[in-house]
Amino acid sequence: MVVGPKTRGFICTTAHPAGCAANVARQIEYVREQPRFEGVKKALIIGCSTGYGLSTRIAAAFGAGASTLGVAFERPASRTRTATAGWYNTAAFESFAGRDGLYAKTVMGDAFSDAVKEQIIDLIRSDLGKVDLVVYSLAAPRRAVGDVTYNSVLKPVGQPFTSKSLDVAKMEVDTVTIEPATQEEIDGTVKVMGGEDWRWWIDALREADVLAKDATTIAYSYIGPELTYPVYHDGTVGLAKRDLAEAAKAIDAELRAGGGHAYVSVNKALVTQASAAIPVVPLYISILFKIMKEQGTHEGCMEQMYRLLARKLYVPAPELDAEGFLRMDDWELAPAIQEKVNAAWQAISNENLKTYADLEGYRREFYQLFGFEVDEVDYTADVEIGVDIPSIGSAE
Ligand code: NAI
Repeated sequence: MVVGPKTRGFICTTAHPAGCAANVARQIEYVREQPRFEGVKKALIIGCSTGYGLSTRIAAAFGAGASTLGVAFERPASRTRTATAGWYNTAAFESFAGRDGLYAKTVMGDAFSDAVKEQIIDLIRSDLGKVDLVVYSLAAPRRAVGDVTYNSVLKPVGQPFTSKSLDVAKMEVDTVTIEPATQEEIDGTVKVMGGEDWRWWIDALREADVLAKDATTIAYSYIGPELTYPVYHDGTVGLAKRDLAEAAKAIDAELRAGGGHAYVSVNKALVTQASAAIPVVPLYISILFKIMKEQGTHEGCMEQMYRLLARKLYVPAPELDAEGFLRMDDWELAPAIQEKVNAAWQAISNENLKTYADLEGYRREFYQLFGFEVDEVDYTADVEIGVDIPSIGSAE
């Protein structure tokens, strides 16, 4: 089948297998060019198929030689429909890992469920013994607990928020007003994106005795600049991230006796399937990227996650901020960068978009998430859309 992009709102409903494989190969190549690091041997990555989770898996496997088990929620291809990008990414990752003799298996299913937790515990028992790193990198729209389904929303809290924003479909600046979340929406978002399920994972792994005594666990958060505070940091997701930080403290207290730790890493704003859905953030990212590229400090998911593991986490004394967070947004929030972002944010309009924002970079990176617009791929060629993940098969 010849596969092209089909977009609906802020998502692309098709994915290109060769493009996704090329993206994974490029990330692996980057890690191979960096110095190797030590410390992680057997890692579980929850949310391993795209974005930060995928890059963390690549850093651990190809930077430190770690065995990796992953969990993700991705769909295989049908006869007429491509698989999701995360499915193709995982297939490529496992194939490359296999070629290097690295253990890699993945469970495709709902990470919030008991069934998936049990499947992972069985796999750790039979294949790895214990894991020494657990990465919690889920970005999910909903979570089912028993019969109740909670939804996550991206809304301000308390009052409406009006701001410039980027209409990703039209690539135009417009003004959006987002109404504040209801209490039910706030509670739902905390249930989905907060720390409860992370704690349940760690409890389940400890009870089953498949977590190394001195294990490290890490979850990802975002703070961002003041101009996105109403919709992010002080909004529903920000409240969920505070709950995640509380979970980190509680888990850390449990692991500390055995020499283990729980961390929250505050990462940089990047183009991922999750961030494309946040109002206001794509415009901020387009401005930020232009400035960081000009300053030579721009990083993608892979650069961020290699730097996190090799330079911030697996070092003798990880450096934490006053709140106890690892800060991977250090370069993003550097005052010199943010001053320029603020000036551009004030000045930007449809007449001067290209002067202030890297819209083309944003658009391209968005399509690349789904395997499109990757230089080395011939998009006129027929491709087989049914791709097996080595540890799963085609799952049809
Ligand atoms: P993403 O959308 O690229 O990846 C999400 C992952 O979660 C995928 O592997 C997906 O398959 C998996 N997933 C979703 N629902 C699932 C379920 N029910 N069961 C199993 N797997 C499921 O997201 P991204 O951006 O990499 O986000 C990961 C974490 O990083 C989130 O906590 C996010 O808040 C955080 N973060 C993201 C930033 C960004 O700019 N993208 C910045 C800072 C932090």
